[in-house]
Amino acid sequence: MQFPNKVRIVEVGPRDGLQNEANLVSTDVKVDLIERLADAGLTTIEAGSFVSPKWVPQMADTADVLARISHRPGVTYPVLVPNDKGLDAAIAAGVAEIAVFAAASEAFSKKNINCSIDESLQRFAPVLARSHERGIRVRGYVSCVLGCPYQGDVPLADVARVAAQLIDMGCYEVSLGDTIGVGTPSAAVAMLDAVLERVPVEGVALHFHDTYGQALANIHACLGRGVAVLDAAVGGLGGCPYAKGATGNVATEDLVYMLQGMGMETGIDLDRLIATSVHISRALGRSPQSHVARARAAFSLSPEGRGPG
Ligand code: HMG
Ligand code: MG
Repeated sequence: MQFPNKVRIVEVGPRDGLQNEANLVSTDVKVDLIERLADAGLTTIEAGSFVSPKWVPQMADTADVLARISHRPGVTYPVLVPNDKGLDAAIAAGVAEIAVFAAASEAFSKKNINCSIDESLQRFAPVLARSHERGIRVRGYVSCVLGCPYQGDVPLADVARVAAQLIDMGCYEVSLGDTIGVGTPSAAVAMLDAVLERVPVEGVALHFHDTYGQALANIHACLGRGVAVLDAAVGGLGGCPYAKGATGNVATEDLVYMLQGMGMETGIDLDRLIATSVHISRALGRSPQSHVARARAAFSLSPEGRGPG
């Protein structure tokens, strides 16, 4: 076990979280959420997507969001880009970083971005070239690394191949997505080991949805392989509109609580993060889904400050 000392958290709530809301969330709420996340110490905050508004109407105001947030020094606000048209919009918005997104499953690729895996990689090549000409950093995602809602099992070789191709094409990092949150720790480590045969650990991030409640266990198991970049969504928001039934990412506050308990540096103010989780959950008309926010609420309700039980 070689746990990293320091972990970078990529906050995906404003994108992965809000892309899946049944009701459109206002630009005001999105801007406020991003500012609160930066106040809590997050330094990478995925701010939206330049995808087709017919496919994902929830992200149609991404240019407005980017125009209104405060763009603090030391904080990056990446956006998802599926093709040249998305990159044009990202360039016009002045972004410093984008993410292209592929899948390890053919069926999911077709449903999510309407093309095969190889076609998607061909589409990304000019996106990467133009981004690099302009000094825009490019991250890559691989979806369905532990299972696909349409195809079922996904061979590890397919995950490793797509991850390695994205790195070879010039992505600085590849984020491995358990899109439907079906993975367990042993499956997650086996998948990671297959990728690490082809991609150095410094180029790997993990993106676990928590549908089956396994995300923290999966992360803990994979941290032992030295991965030091983790994606999470405040309040456990979200899912993917093209993976029905899948729930949100691991909640950022649950992740930070665990990492702090392991003595790892995150640079995040947990109290402010919990307050942000409560705030966005209320704005969306629900109570916070994360364990930590619920536990903290229970504690603060107890007359002795000890919480029930
Ligand atoms: P398509 O229909 O094949 O595209 O969709 P097209 O090129 O034929 O264009 C169709 C229309 O879309 C045209 O408009 C284009 O101009 C427009 P029309 O002539 O009909 O008025 N269009 C665009 N508009 C704005 N921005 C663009 C853009 N591109 C085309 N960039 C496409 C292909 C990729 C566009 C579509 O499938 C799409 O937008 N998909 C996005 C799906 C998505 O955002 N999914 C969620 C994110 S992925 C995820 O959540 C997983 C992740 O979290 C990791 C994990 O958990 O595994 C990252
Ligand atoms: Mg996701």
